[in-house]
Amino acid sequence: MKIYAHRGYSAKYPENTLAAFRATAELPVDGVEFDVHLTADQQVVVIHDEKIDRTSNGTGYVKDMTLEELRKFDYGAWFTDEFSGEVIPTLAEVLEIFKETHHHINIELKSDIFVYAGLEELVLHEVEKQGMLERVVISSFDHEAVKRVAELSPDVENAALFVNMILDVAEYQEKLPANALHVFLPTAVRKTVLEAISKGSVVRVWTVNEVEYATQLLQIGVDAIFTDEPEKMLEFLSSVK
Ligand code: G3P
Ligand code: MG
Repeated sequence: MKIYAHRGYSAKYPENTLAAFRATAELPVDGVEFDVHLTADQQVVVIHDEKIDRTSNGTGYVKDMTLEELRKFDYGAWFTDEFSGEVIPTLAEVLEIFKETHHHINIELKSDIFVYAGLEELVLHEVEKQGMLERVVISSFDHEAVKRVAELSPDVENAALFVNMILDVAEYQEKLPANALHVFLPTAVRKTVLEAISKGSVVRVWTVNEVEYATQLLQIGVDAIFTDEPEKMLEFLSSVK
């Protein structure tokens, strides 16, 4: 079972910041996951929420501000003073950190609330520019976006994110098409997901911070877990090997 650091190393660092990604890049985890939105001037930025309020000292929607405007705020001090001065990262800056590492990179397109026209193309273009097309998996709760990634770049790995259970998820996956299923922890042990695993689907599960759940997921044969606690999960995996 593989380990992906969720939003960077988000238990110890402010989520989706360069500090969190630099720390992850030093870890022997398999991958990293982060979220992207589009600014008013069409820049791809790395942040979880549609609004900057929770993770910065600013307020407002990412989509309504330019990168320059978004850069005026602090994205680290809300976590602890030690991280004050963190700015909102661009996709390019985050990819740069992992350019020379072994990590698999999961870019989550946050277009499930607002439509970000052209986000798939912009993300694929940046990944291609950095020569990392074979190292990414592009996922979304927005399955129209997942489908567009498949149409635009059939060779790039894509994944459908699910918060709810759907019947015959493996059949749905084939129809989209999606290379992998990224499922919410409570749904991971349900029949439809277990059947998908037995049919060969790559299933990755979010967000797994407890050893008890990781143990169960290891037993059912999921490909990977997303965790805010990568070191804790590395320790767990080495203890069961
Ligand atoms: O991509 C897995 C996971 O990050 C999905 O949920 O809300 O943490 O982006 P969220
Ligand atoms: Mg995410």
